[in-house]
Amino acid sequence: MNAIELVGVTLGFGARRVLSDVDLTIRPNEFVGIFGPNGSGKTTLMRAILGLLPARSGTVRVLEKPVARGNAAIGYMPQARSTLEHLRLSGWDFVASVVNGHRWGLPTLDRAVRKEIGWALEKVQAIDLARRPLVETSGGERQRLLLAQALLGRPRLLLLDEPLISLDPHHQAMVVGLTRTLQQELGMTVLFSAHELNPLLGALDRVLYLGQGHAALGTVEEVVTGPVLSRLYGSEIDVVHLNGRIFVMSGRHDVERDAHQHEHARHHVHV
Ligand SMILES: Nc1ncnc2c1ncn2[C@@H]1O[C@H](COP(=O)(O)OP(=O)(O)OP(=O)(O)O)[C@@H](O)[C@H]1O
Ligand SMILES: [Mg+2]
Repeated sequence: MNAIELVGVTLGFGARRVLSDVDLTIRPNEFVGIFGPNGSGKTTLMRAILGLLPARSGTVRVLEKPVARGNAAIGYMPQARSTLEHLRLSGWDFVASVVNGHRWGLPTLDRAVRKEIGWALEKVQAIDLARRPLVETSGGERQRLLLAQALLGRPRLLLLDEPLISLDPHHQAMVVGLTRTLQQELGMTVLFSAHELNPLLGALDRVLYLGQGHAALGTVEEVVTGPVLSRLYGSEIDVVHLNGRIFVMSGRHDVERDAHQHEHARHHVHV
């Protein structure tokens, strides 16, 4: 049994190929970190697994079935998160807002669904956020509410697209630790995209690096090496180990740190 299986998969938009002829298999209950430069296809891959983007060629199988839209066994935290228009909602209403048929602020949900929302809030330790308006929550607290949304329906596969963006190291560690604990407690397969490897090092089973249309999946020792990453990044990469941390360097630049800071810059411009 595999959680995700790609055989000869090519993904793209118009004339642009994002991934070419990718083969990979992710096992049940694996925690896989997805890395790669901006535009390498991390989000595109998640959308393909969700059935939102058909493969140009090859086959995608998810939980032993051909990929299909609207798979209730998948929980998804998208990268583009438009929480701003929701700011007046309470934490509870925000989590509830993803449930089909829910009318904003109206108590139209049946008891089972309300119970499920309570369960998800408890799982992410956000009971105290339920009554508070979103506008008063911090980035880390909001991230927990987004995780609660993704847990509704008790998915077997969780796709989290850049959940660490704009969090400080302490809150990054909190989100990673919480995700790992829930993954093990609930028995889920987790795909977690990020720009920096270090915050995820203790939690990961394997890493998936994307670049130049290719993919490399394996343990950190197998994949995070100069030769493998040089091929994926299309330039000379050195991997430096220091005090239990790993730095991916292009010349004198820390590639992952640079990408992360761009993300921060982008975030601040939008807000
Ligand atoms: N809807 C779309 N139409 C056309 N091109 C797209 C679309 N979505 C993504 N792309 C292109 O596909 C490539 C991969 O994008 P994707 O968002 O998957 O990258 P990513 O690895 O998630 O990047 P980031 O680190 O910035 O989130 C990029 O070149 C992007 O411009
Ligand atoms: Mg992305």
